[in-house]
Amino acid sequence: MTTRINFKGEIGQDAFISVLDHGFLFGDSVYEVVVTQNGVPCFMKGHLKRLRNSAAGLTMEIPWSDESIVEQIMRTIKDAGNAESYVRIIVTRGVGELDIDPTSCSNPELIVLVTELKPYPLSSYEKGINVALVSVKRNSRDTVNPGIKTGNYLNNVLAKVESNRMGAQDALMLNHQGHLTECTTSNFFFVVEGRILTPSLDCGILAGITRDVLLQVAQENGVLVEQGEWPPESLSKADEAFITGTVKKVMPVTHLDGRSIGNGQPGPVTRRMMRLYDEALEEEGKSSSG
Ligand code: PDD
Repeated sequence: MTTRINFKGEIGQDAFISVLDHGFLFGDSVYEVVVTQNGVPCFMKGHLKRLRNSAAGLTMEIPWSDESIVEQIMRTIKDAGNAESYVRIIVTRGVGELDIDPTSCSNPELIVLVTELKPYPLSSYEKGINVALVSVKRNSRDTVNPGIKTGNYLNNVLAKVESNRMGAQDALMLNHQGHLTECTTSNFFFVVEGRILTPSLDCGILAGITRDVLLQVAQENGVLVEQGEWPPESLSKADEAFITGTVKKVMPVTHLDGRSIGNGQPGPVTRRMMRLYDEALEEEGKSSSG
């Protein structure tokens, strides 16, 4: 496994950032995770747009053009030389006063971290995973909006810790209104009588790029996906469930709090969406534009 980190345009095996960077001091940073398919970083337009939206949500300016960010990404991927790459693009607020006010930080930093893409075990896809409904709530939209992908994931860290304690592979969080939202690093879907249901963006979730691609391919293939607000009790009617994320892709969820969802196996709708997403990814890997 080769890891390469690009910091200030210099590529090395590691990088060191000042402890006075507000990204370190306050989690005042934004980031994206991208993976490659056939060496091509996928869905770059969507990821770069979200990176800029996240930065705007924190009133942080990104002074680099998309082209120059992509150039740094491609240089770093090439230098790492892995078959397929995991790419983390981080923009921090930069160095400033030892004070929460970001106006003292005038130079944001761009960090591109590339390492070998390690897919999740095949068994997660063949058998599905167990997800726990946790007591930690997703941040409400009038705190740090979950639609902003910041470097402060502490709420999700706490949710993950709770799901670890419950022996589950991930945590499903509710919002403060008691509606389903998402998992710690993925979006959530469930299937009732052949219809796919997923929490709407209004519930306070990250607008996942994988979620977007899935909604698009579902529409192109005549599969109904309903976005809305659902209490956790609606999961008792679920025949299937799955989560989506850049690294996980489409992963079946076959157990909730250790109890089977449907027959406890990845179901036909989930399998179809896994296949449709894989095809979209394969197609993406043929282009270089993103
Ligand atoms: N996480 N929800 C949350 C809270 C996430 O952190 C992520 C992504 C997603 C899925 O978004 P996407 O499909 O764009 O990957 C949903 C990335 C993979 C991470 O932080 O590692």
